[in-house]
Amino acid sequence: MGKLLSNFRTTTLLSIALAVIMILAFGKVSGGFGDAFWQATLRWVHVVAGVLWIGLLWYFNFVQIRVMPNIPAEMKPAIGKHIAPEALFWFRWSALATVLAGLGVMFMRGHAYAMEVLSFGFAGGMTEDQKGFTLMGIGVWLAIIMFLNVWGIIWPNQKRALGIVPAEDDVKAKSARIAMLGSRTNMLLSLPMLTSMAMYQTLFG
Ligand code: HEM
Repeated sequence: MGKLLSNFRTTTLLSIALAVIMILAFGKVSGGFGDAFWQATLRWVHVVAGVLWIGLLWYFNFVQIRVMPNIPAEMKPAIGKHIAPEALFWFRWSALATVLAGLGVMFMRGHAYAMEVLSFGFAGGMTEDQKGFTLMGIGVWLAIIMFLNVWGIIWPNQKRALGIVPAEDDVKAKSARIAMLGSRTNMLLSLPMLTSMAMYQTLFG
């Protein structure tokens, strides 16, 4: 067991295998492998990818960005050359997986539902019972803005800041600041965004 747990890849694959057994059990016990099962499975993918994405966003903001100024200069490359690039790899690809699975769940709930959410309830005329869509729409659009921020601002600036693409020292410093502010913006938006994700289903079904 110690040998298995020492290896990241085998541990992760085993975790996925156990989750797949649970997913199949849910399909069987709930009475079938129809549309509802596949929507639930996509929700699983969505939440798993979302946890990885937002978990890493919070790691950057709770830990790395705050501690970095206190790290002695000769030790900074350990973060800049090894930890940050690896964290950014999982960060940006899990962001993409979260959005694709989230949009998938939305459209699996039906075209009308997707239009209602994306239009904040205006597609259905914004009657009293559409207000839930307004709240869910805010969360989905915040998440889309956060995703565009990851790929359009944070990652291109981090590439220059970390020396993954060559840049002059002053450009590097400016890019590091822009990447930090981009990351802080996503930190700011993360809790309001998650409020929609976490509360909609229970209160509006
Ligand atoms: C563009 C990005 C996103 C889209 C389009 C999206 C879309 C959705 C949709 C349609 C639902 C189902 C709501 C319902 O029950 O009707 C959902 C639920 C959820 N989403 Fe997202 N989402 C996005 C980003 C995120 C992110 C970044 C997270 C971070 C963890 C997240 C976490 C969740 C959670 C925890 C649920 C609740 C699942 C449940 O109650 O079954 N989502 N999302």
